[in-house]
Amino acid sequence: MSGNTYFNHAYAGIEAISIFVPNHYFPIEDLARVRGVDEEKFTIGLGCKKMSVLSPFEDPVTMAATAMKDLIRKSGISKDQIGCLVVGSESGVDESKPIAVYLHEMLGLEDNCRCFDIKNACYAGTAALRSAMSWAMTPASKGRKAVVITTDVAYYDLGSPGEPTQGAGACAMLIGTDPGVLSLDTANEAVHTNEVMDFWRPAYRNSAIVNGHYSLECYLEGLRKTWSLYRDMTSYRMKDYDYLLFHTPFPKMAWKAHNLIYKLEGGFKALGMTEEESFNTKVLPTLKAAQEMGNIYTSSIFAAITSLVEFHDMKPGMLLGVFSYGSGSSSEFISGTTGKAVKSWANRTGLSHYLSRRRKISYDDYVLYRAAYEQRMKDGYFVNHEPSDENPFVYLGIKNHKRLYSYTAQDSEDVKTIGLTKPLQG
Ligand code: HMG
Repeated sequence: MSGNTYFNHAYAGIEAISIFVPNHYFPIEDLARVRGVDEEKFTIGLGCKKMSVLSPFEDPVTMAATAMKDLIRKSGISKDQIGCLVVGSESGVDESKPIAVYLHEMLGLEDNCRCFDIKNACYAGTAALRSAMSWAMTPASKGRKAVVITTDVAYYDLGSPGEPTQGAGACAMLIGTDPGVLSLDTANEAVHTNEVMDFWRPAYRNSAIVNGHYSLECYLEGLRKTWSLYRDMTSYRMKDYDYLLFHTPFPKMAWKAHNLIYKLEGGFKALGMTEEESFNTKVLPTLKAAQEMGNIYTSSIFAAITSLVEFHDMKPGMLLGVFSYGSGSSSEFISGTTGKAVKSWANRTGLSHYLSRRRKISYDDYVLYRAAYEQRMKDGYFVNHEPSDENPFVYLGIKNHKRLYSYTAQDSEDVKTIGLTKPLQG
């Protein structure tokens, strides 16, 4: 089957994809030991392995900038061909100024590029993707591409039930009307909105508050509704999907999500596979990033795409079903079909590269880095760190209420600082 066989209407989607994984990780079994919890509760009960932890000079902006720099380099896109940049994040660094505008400067984009952020819990990544696809399909885009960035730090209180599910990371995607990686269904919309207090983060807090068990029910209700809606408006059934990608706050959630659909679709009798066989074939290959990085909120489903593309033998024309959930809550189920360039992204998304270079940290460092994360939101916090090939974008701190970053300019070797008041060109 060749790419786009499934959709006979206007299509748009992902032309290139890249992921950034922070420098450090903390193993889940070490956390279990310190917390006096049976290790298997975290590793089997939740399915977690490692959580990504930020260094004191990293933040959602530096992660996003690195993912985007990689995307531009690997896709070979010229900057004047980027006409729209949309960031989805729930780890905003400022209540007003968008992350997208920092990225616009750091990556040296043209000043006629439309840039904005979307905040909508973990669903913000999908909302950003939808928005970028719509833009790419309008005549106003004039054939230029959009970039979608997702960047987050999943951060809960020490010792809380959410702690083992923490993580951090960013994804960057080139969006256009020639989607060589994944073409998405633009004709059908299966969404569900329901006001619930399952997970939230008041503006005065760094860590999220969660009604844990209730949040699982809210997630599964969103899945049940959107799956059924999509199923009714298209001819696709579970057996048609090569892979199912679920928003993954922790890997066991993907197991619960899969099993719900497996039952809705009639189980073994209808599908001819046991629950476990079906999960191992259609879902397990999508979970590598979630197991290695933890919850990465808005990046979760895009990291699942990179897990497939990076490590598995993907062919054009494979059908993927993607479920996106954002607490609060917003859900969407969408289908995508892999494109002709999908194979060329094997080993190129950055996932294996970044996983292999990162370092394990001790519990003491984990606590220290958390303290830095809390401090870095405060005026007067400052880090001494220079940008390097390994970490091209560095968060310096906050001075006079301005957030400062240091990075090497894209068009020269000069180290620049962003966040100071800039003279206007007139
Ligand atoms: P908990 O209450 O401490 O754990 O926290 P538990 O008691 O429910 O146990 C977890 C699992 O481990 C259970 O499995 C136990 O049976 C098993 P299950 O019954 O669910 O299949 N277990 C063991 N297994 C093996 N050996 C053992 C053992 N002991 C127990 N010895 C909870 C769990 C998920 C509530 C917690 O981690 C949490 O609060 N997480 C954060 C919230 C969350 O991730 N919610 C997910 C849905 S909402 C969502 O996805 C949105 C989100 O990404 C944010 C956004 O949208 O912006 C979070």
